[in-house]
Amino acid sequence: MNASPIGIFDSGLGGLSVLREVRAMLPHESLIYVADSRYAPYGEKPERFVEDRTLQVCEWLLAQGCKALVIACNTATMHAVQTLRERLAVPIIGVEPGLKPAASQSQSKVVGVLATANTLKSAKFNRLLASQAQDSQYLCVAGHGLVSLIEQGEISSPAIREKLDAYLQPMLDAGADTLVLGCTHYPFLSETIRDMVGNRLTLIDTGTAIARQLARKLAEFDLAANPEATPTIRYVSTKDAAHLRDMAWTLLRVEADAETVAIEPAPPVAVTE
Ligand code: DGL
Repeated sequence: MNASPIGIFDSGLGGLSVLREVRAMLPHESLIYVADSRYAPYGEKPERFVEDRTLQVCEWLLAQGCKALVIACNTATMHAVQTLRERLAVPIIGVEPGLKPAASQSQSKVVGVLATANTLKSAKFNRLLASQAQDSQYLCVAGHGLVSLIEQGEISSPAIREKLDAYLQPMLDAGADTLVLGCTHYPFLSETIRDMVGNRLTLIDTGTAIARQLARKLAEFDLAANPEATPTIRYVSTKDAAHLRDMAWTLLRVEADAETVAIEPAPPVAVTE
C-alpha cells in the first residue's frame, strides 16, 4: 500500500475532466492537480516550450512526492511523454485522441477530430493517425481559441458556440457521425455540443480510459493506496488560486481549497501566441 499522491497535470483547467474520472474510479487515492494556467494555452506555443515546461512541472510534482503522473493534456503528451519516460522514474500515463474507439463506434466511418494545432501537427499524433485502419476517414480540425475561452469559464457562451459551429458544421456536412474530443478541455463543452448537434455526433472522450490505465499501472507497480485511506487533494494553479477554486466549482461542483504556486523560471524559449 502506498499513500503518496498521484500528480495530474494540464496546461490549465482541462485536466479537471480527467481528475473527475480518476476520483470516480480511485476515490481513495490522494492527488495533486496542477493547472499551469500562467502559460495556457499550450496548443499554439512553440513545441520546445511545451516539452521543457511539461518536464519542469512534472519534476515539481515529483519533488512533492508523487508516485505516478498523469499528463492530462493531449498537447503535452504529444510533445513530451517520451522525454518524461526517459528521465523520470515513476509510471507516466499520457493521453491521446481516441481515434480507435471513435472508428469502432462510427457507422458512417467519417470521424471528426477536434484537437489543438500542436497536437494535430505532432509526429506522435500523425503516427497514431497513420496506424488506424484504413476503413475510416478522419477530419482533423484545430480548435483555435476554444481553450482560451474555456480557461475564462466560457463553456456555452455565444462566442464558443460560434467557434464550435465553424468547426463542427463542415464535419457534419462531410458525413461525420462521431467526434473525438482530442483536448482535455473539450469534455466541458459536451453539453453545449449536444445542445447544438443533438445526437448527430457521438462524442468520444478518453477520461475513463485514462483512469482505467492509471489503475492498471498502480496495480502493476504495487503503488495503490489503502482502500481505507482518506485521500487529500491539492489543487494548484501557477496563476490564480481563486480562479481555479471558482472553476473547480463551476466545472465539477467541487469545493477546492486551491493554492497558487510559482513553478519558475519557465524554460527560456520565446513564448508566442
Ligand atoms: N488540455 C490541453 C490538451 O489536452 C489543452 C492544450 C492547450 O493548452 O492548448 O491538449
